[in-house]
Amino acid sequence: PFENFLQCFKNKTNISDKDLTDVVLPQTSVSFTTVLRAYIRNARFNTTATPKPTVIIVPRVESHVQATVICTKTLNYQLKIRSGGHDYDGLSYISSAATFFVLDLSNFRNITVDLNDDGGSAWVQTGATLGELFYRIWEKSEIHAFPAGVCPTVGVGGHVSGGGYGNMIRKFGLTIDHVVDAKIVVANGEIRDRKTMGEDLFWAIRGGGGGSYGVVLGFKVKLVEVPKTVTVFRVDKYMDENALDMVYKWQFVAPRTDPGLFLRVLVSSATKNKTLTVRARLRALYLGDANDVVLKMAKEFPEMGLKKEDCKEMTWIQSMLWWMNHVDVDKVKPEILLEREPDSAKFVKRKSDYVEKEMTKRELNRLFKKLATLDRTGLVLNPYGGNLNATATDATAFPHRNKLYKIQHSTTWSDAGPEAERLYIGNLRTTYRIMTPFVSKNPRSSYLNYRDIDIGVNDHGVDSYRKGEIYGRKYFGDNFDRLVRVKTDVDPDNFFRNEQSIPTLPFNK
Ligand code: FDA
Repeated sequence: PFENFLQCFKNKTNISDKDLTDVVLPQTSVSFTTVLRAYIRNARFNTTATPKPTVIIVPRVESHVQATVICTKTLNYQLKIRSGGHDYDGLSYISSAATFFVLDLSNFRNITVDLNDDGGSAWVQTGATLGELFYRIWEKSEIHAFPAGVCPTVGVGGHVSGGGYGNMIRKFGLTIDHVVDAKIVVANGEIRDRKTMGEDLFWAIRGGGGGSYGVVLGFKVKLVEVPKTVTVFRVDKYMDENALDMVYKWQFVAPRTDPGLFLRVLVSSATKNKTLTVRARLRALYLGDANDVVLKMAKEFPEMGLKKEDCKEMTWIQSMLWWMNHVDVDKVKPEILLEREPDSAKFVKRKSDYVEKEMTKRELNRLFKKLATLDRTGLVLNPYGGNLNATATDATAFPHRNKLYKIQHSTTWSDAGPEAERLYIGNLRTTYRIMTPFVSKNPRSSYLNYRDIDIGVNDHGVDSYRKGEIYGRKYFGDNFDRLVRVKTDVDPDNFFRNEQSIPTLPFNK
């Protein structure tokens, strides 16, 4: 496979032999392992047993991406596309196919910010990270920002393709709500922009997930304006400090309060006085000053007991550093947002849920009691509401608006081996099972960017549509049908595929 690919790639690109060794890496290349591992963000997929690609292509220019698509398609191999590599189940760099190639976009990291374009916009290549985007905006203006995820090493490519949200979701909606143009290499190797791809494909690549329609080279996004001063705060409570009352009330307040206030709660098992209990950790961003939010919370949410001294006022870019867990943001430089190396790669598994009706105190109490027995398991509760609901559920491919809140089921551990994996993923699946009566049903919805292969996978055999419908309706609801129609139109041979990509329509449909 490698020799055939190499020949084809050389013919299409006229690349020099010297450059070729940096761009097309077979397993025998000295840089193969370093390049592969550079963007593996989950230690579960960084072992000797993890399936490895036959070739990694690290394009430098657009024509390298075009040649990769044409040559891989001609030779009929599977191509995985990787930007930041944060896919929770590793779908951007592992595969069950015996032979597969990885297209690594880490060199595509240009960002051009233009504050004079219609209130501020940026073209950002998909291999850039969110931290790099935030930093480049901050370089030009302290009152411009972009609503996206709170982890700076996340790649723009996967994040935007899957919807994307961060701590300004209630004020500005999803990341995709701010995408106004894109550049994509489609299955025949051509490059299209919004005008030449048409509104159907442009609709599908905003929330319909990466890896189904083409290789997105870049997105044009509109910036938002934020106040010069924003406020952050944290409130932590254990079970014996009324954590239960706080979380119960949170369900009523967080999705309905001022859209400028984002209150995230992490509920997890924790150890206190050498015994396992439950802790609720509240983290907040308020797009305004401290006095304002303290007054508001005294009225709406006295159970939290927020005091002025719990609050810190800062600039928006500093608030991004605070969300990265830097407590004293005056001592940290925004340049830290440019770092691509995370502190350490841990073992992780995530699942997701949507809640439409508040849980009763009794139900929450039962959940807390069970959680207290499940080591390293937690639920991250993210409030929806506010301006997220101003966009129709079919305006973008992301369907889960008008919900109260989203749950991220989360487990993270650091000891290698199958025993630990069985234990912690087992704990996670237990909380997921317990939550069944309290979350969305028929189907039970999931957030694509919290990739979870437990909800269905596709080998793209004869019943690819049926298999795709299982996870597809959970991720996309009724938008799944339009996603399939667009897919059938633009990639009828199903070249762009992964274990959870959008299938084509079967012949008889
Ligand atoms: P990666 O490169 O792994 O790609 C993910 C998927 O998109 C794969 O299927 C891949 O093939 C495809 N893809 C990637 N680039 C593409 C391109 N250029 N063209 C076509 N397809 C492409 N989410 C969120 O909404 N808010 C948040 O705050 C966070 N926070 C967060 C923290 C951490 C530590 C992790 C690990 C993850 C998150 N996420 C998140 C989830 C994150 O948004 C999700 O994993 C994204 O898909 C990651 O994008 P990457 O480009 O890094 O992933």
